[in-house]
Amino acid sequence: MTLAYINNELHLNDHALEDLAKQYGTPLFVYDEDAIRSQCRKYHSVFEQESLDYSISYASKAFTSVQMVKLLQEEDMKLDVVSAGELYTAIQAGFPASHIHFHGNNKTAEEIQYALEVGIGLFVVDAMDEVALLDRLADQPIDVLLRINPGIDVNTHSYIQTGQEDSKFGLSIHNGTAFEAIRMIQESRYVNFKGVHYHLGSQIDEEGPFLKALDVVFEWLSKSGIDIEILNMGGGYGVRYTEADTRYPIEKGFANIISRLKSLSTEYGIPLPHIMIEPGRSIVAEAGITLYEVGVVKDIPGVSRYVSVDGGMSDHIRTPLYGAEYEVMAVKENKTQSMDAHVVGKLCESGDIVRKNASLPEDVSRGDLVAVRTTGAYHYSMASNYNQMRKPAVIFVTGADVREVIRRQSLAQLIENDMI
Ligand code: LLP
Repeated sequence: MTLAYINNELHLNDHALEDLAKQYGTPLFVYDEDAIRSQCRKYHSVFEQESLDYSISYASKAFTSVQMVKLLQEEDMKLDVVSAGELYTAIQAGFPASHIHFHGNNKTAEEIQYALEVGIGLFVVDAMDEVALLDRLADQPIDVLLRINPGIDVNTHSYIQTGQEDSKFGLSIHNGTAFEAIRMIQESRYVNFKGVHYHLGSQIDEEGPFLKALDVVFEWLSKSGIDIEILNMGGGYGVRYTEADTRYPIEKGFANIISRLKSLSTEYGIPLPHIMIEPGRSIVAEAGITLYEVGVVKDIPGVSRYVSVDGGMSDHIRTPLYGAEYEVMAVKENKTQSMDAHVVGKLCESGDIVRKNASLPEDVSRGDLVAVRTTGAYHYSMASNYNQMRKPAVIFVTGADVREVIRRQSLAQLIENDMI
């Protein structure tokens, strides 16, 4: 995606952001559809080049909607869902259930039942208890992967680390529970063991942990004498939020991962399984921005300047939750002076921060627009109705076209389940 000033007006590719804000209102999520597609194709090409048996599943949790799912199907992607809601969205979009796999550390019986009814392709089993539950609810064979925990620490926010020994996700390969679960699956009536899955965490920018996980898992498979048809390596490939971030190098990183896979397969005499990955953030994060309109600008002389926008932690929770940093740009370029300002939301909490110390034009004032970059992942999907804020609209731009993919919530929708 290109975000650049043309005649002092910020444009996303050829679209003036001011025009989009006028037409669809703010806050507004704007995605460059071609940028999403090109990420999907990049992942395909790294595997195709190596003529590997593979599939790429998109992790719905990063951002899902009916139109997003349709786009994924066009791009030959498979889908990872973690709730009845994500599954429902995919099914309503016409996505083939056989191309969907169901994750989660605590799938409810109702969710399992629903997934079985629609004919889901795979479950990723996360606990012994789930094996028993699944076996009880199924009335014909159902394929599963076991989520294993390889016990690998990664350098990312602690809330989004998942592959370390002390985790609610998966079963440890080190304490024997993963092996025990596989035995249990093999002895079950309908649960059919296809392979293993692990996910180390999210927003990982280094290659080391991904390679180490392969070493550890192949050694374990070999030692335990476990045969797998599928190896799902999860997601977690990092993106660039600000200039301080390093993006996970997809082409180079996967060339190394695939070469390690091949050498481990030879070393241990384990035939190369079908390889799955499930990226979320790296498909959509950098393809999306949020547009806000500025309201109150408050100067506290000698202390701070606060620029309040018309959204906040109801559509931008990653800063309050993880201390994540973003780049904020004024939609009208100001070539004169800029000054530091805290860009904050309009919700009733002091932690409702979009960006501390953003550099904005000195004369920023009510009615001006600002764009926050790299908000395509875990923004709309983590949006809430806190303070009875309405979820924003989402639009996709492609070439000269613009299409609304999610309408802004209405006030009426906020009370549609209320007893009147
Ligand atoms: N697979 C599994 C099993 C996962 O748990 C996740 C993310 C993914 C794949 C996709 O990971 P990605 O490629 O998007 O990094 N709300 C947090 C992120 C939570 C990620 C949870 N799991 C954030 O905003 O940073």
